[in-house]
Amino acid sequence: MMVLHDVTELRRLEQVRTEFVANVSHELRTPLTAIHGYLETLLGGALEERDDARRFLEIVFRHTERLGRLLDDLTDLSNIELGRVTLRLEPVRLDEVVDSVLAIIAPKAEAGRVALASQLPSGLPPVSADRDRLAQILINLVDNAVKYTPEGGRVTVSARPAADGRVEVAVADTGVGIPPTDLPRITERFYRVDKARSRELGGTGLGLAIVKHLVLAHAGELAIESTPGRGTTVHVTLPAGVPQ
Ligand SMILES: Nc1ncnc2c1ncn2[C@@H]1O[C@H](COP(=O)(O)OP(=O)(O)O)[C@@H](O)[C@H]1O
Ligand SMILES: [Mg+2]
Repeated sequence: MMVLHDVTELRRLEQVRTEFVANVSHELRTPLTAIHGYLETLLGGALEERDDARRFLEIVFRHTERLGRLLDDLTDLSNIELGRVTLRLEPVRLDEVVDSVLAIIAPKAEAGRVALASQLPSGLPPVSADRDRLAQILINLVDNAVKYTPEGGRVTVSARPAADGRVEVAVADTGVGIPPTDLPRITERFYRVDKARSRELGGTGLGLAIVKHLVLAHAGELAIESTPGRGTTVHVTLPAGVPQ
């Protein structure tokens, strides 16, 4: 029984790894194919047509940026997964981190005509976190919320005290939502509801996988609730910043 179980588990892990390598190759291949195609067209004569040349080079540029983002996210994810990332835990005030995160995403929210706001009660206890990594978690979540919310929508970051001195942060949006069948797999590497749309919006499909690992490394909890067509709320619960 035991042996059989082990073999099954081994096969499953091998399967996961094979799928991951196939996914990485595919994700890298897509921008590379576009870059190759446009450069070929440029070399084949389009270089002489000023307007075309500029337009094609802009596309090439965007795809190289995309390749860079993919490699950054892949490196980050594998370092976190391998436990190579050491968290510098300290008591962190959420309002400070949330303010800095909203300032970073504000231009994108404005461009997409999405209202962006925070609702933090005063007197919220500090959380135990690595300030930069907590910012990374929230940047990913607020970025997603804005990205998957159509014009006229709203994104709100709120927080409230939870049991045992812990604090629950919630990023809520009024966006497209995630279908119930996709929800259980949404934090898997490269899993997206709509691959084409995600790529179009510059996504690597690795954001939520990074978020999940970082939240777990903080001994925190991640929960996602969503209603298609109405919106999504992501809850992150973090340990208290001071001994109870
Ligand atoms: N707030 C949200 N609203 C709707 N869908 C979301 C939201 N956040 C994440 N998703 C879905 O989960 C997928 C994975 O998210 P993520 O790992 O951040 O990838 P990316 O942002 O690169 O698309 C997204 O492609 C999208 O389909
Ligand atoms: Mg994302």
